[in-house]
Amino acid sequence: MTAKTTQPTLSTERLLLRPLALADANTIQLLAGDREVADTTRLIPHPYPDGLAETWIASLQPRYEKGEGVSFGITLKDGPLIGSIGLLLNQVDHHGELGYWIGKAWWNQGICTEAAAAILGYAFETLELERVFANYFARNPASGRVMSKLGMKQEGILRRHRCKWGQYEDLIVCGILRGEHQSLNKARARKRSKKAAG
Ligand SMILES: CC(C)(COP(=O)(O)OP(=O)(O)OC[C@H]1O[C@@H](n2cnc3c(N)ncnc32)[C@H](O)[C@@H]1OP(=O)(O)O)[C@@H](O)C(=O)NCCC(=O)NCCS
Repeated sequence: MTAKTTQPTLSTERLLLRPLALADANTIQLLAGDREVADTTRLIPHPYPDGLAETWIASLQPRYEKGEGVSFGITLKDGPLIGSIGLLLNQVDHHGELGYWIGKAWWNQGICTEAAAAILGYAFETLELERVFANYFARNPASGRVMSKLGMKQEGILRRHRCKWGQYEDLIVCGILRGEHQSLNKARARKRSKKAAG
């Protein structure tokens, strides 16, 4: 993993994952300011204070240049910003912690899974990580389902590990290794070519 200055834009069937700009701050505040979005995240506050989105967005490029993390805005192709996804990077152990949120109006349409699949490709192929992991609150099965659809395996439960808005919460840890991701990709490619061959 080497330091880089220009963050790429990733493209999927329906989405573009692109660097965030200060012009996105109002949309971020509006979407992440929804209590239901903030409720199952570790860090998004509620209410979402004025100025926080600007401060956060301004921190992203320096963090990217230092190799500490990478965050993308998720947009529909030629459409609005609808969420965010990123990796916190550990350059010593070559792993990344995945995090994401999607605006409530776009839930349950496969958007997060599609975006996260692209991030896993980027993590293993471009950043050459060995492992990607993520955590979700036990009461957030939608996020658990996203991780399972990505091929991430449950690795453990950290009991009462987070204090979210005054309540201790169990955290479920999931992860996927580079070799597992490669095997899954090969299996998917085999399935696609079998289907194409009829
Ligand atoms: C978690 C979140 C990112 C999922 O985004 P999304 O775009 O709706 O995710 P997807 O559509 O790709 O997948 C969601 C899956 O969860 C399933 N799901 C939704 N609610 C569920 C529930 N209560 N119980 C079980 N499964 C549920 C959906 O049916 C779907 O699975 P399917 O494709 O097999 O039908 C979104 O709900 C969100 O932003 N939540 C608030 C922030 C957050 O929790 N971030 C993650 C912190 S770990």
